[in-house]
Amino acid sequence: MFDFAATAGLPKPELYRELLAAADALTAGEEDGVANMANVAALLWDFLPDVNWTGFYRVVDGELVLGPFAGRPACIRIAMGKGVCGTAAQEAATQLVPDVHAFPGHIACDGATLSELVVPVIREGAVIAVVDLDSPLPARFDAADAAGIEALASMLSSRI
Ligand code: SME
Repeated sequence: MFDFAATAGLPKPELYRELLAAADALTAGEEDGVANMANVAALLWDFLPDVNWTGFYRVVDGELVLGPFAGRPACIRIAMGKGVCGTAAQEAATQLVPDVHAFPGHIACDGATLSELVVPVIREGAVIAVVDLDSPLPARFDAADAAGIEALASMLSSRI
């Protein structure tokens, strides 16, 4: 259906423009949030180089619960304020972590992960989910990645 080979090597702003357009095409008009998260998790996995986990945690009854993802099986429940994901959810703020071992309380789901980017998805002022990207490279993510995933999260807030 989609072939993203052509995006390899694009500068990040262009890569994220392409990613957003693809995510928009995949989720527009579909009301099922699980289906939309599943397709976006797979899209992120396909689009982004040097990642070992791409996916969602959803806020359910005051804690984070694993959602659709690509990568190895992961921790199922994360308390608000715990780890990188719980911190992003509690503070409603992007967490750009160049070295996960230096992040207090980091939850190691996969020992191969060295850096991480977590972006909250906010609907009507409340955090409803987070997008989590992990990488086996140190300092894999930068401000351009954060801006790209924040734009994605904003688009998804009414679709998941
Ligand atoms: N490392 C995350 C936990 C989720 S896994 O990376 C998929 C954290 O500290 O919140």
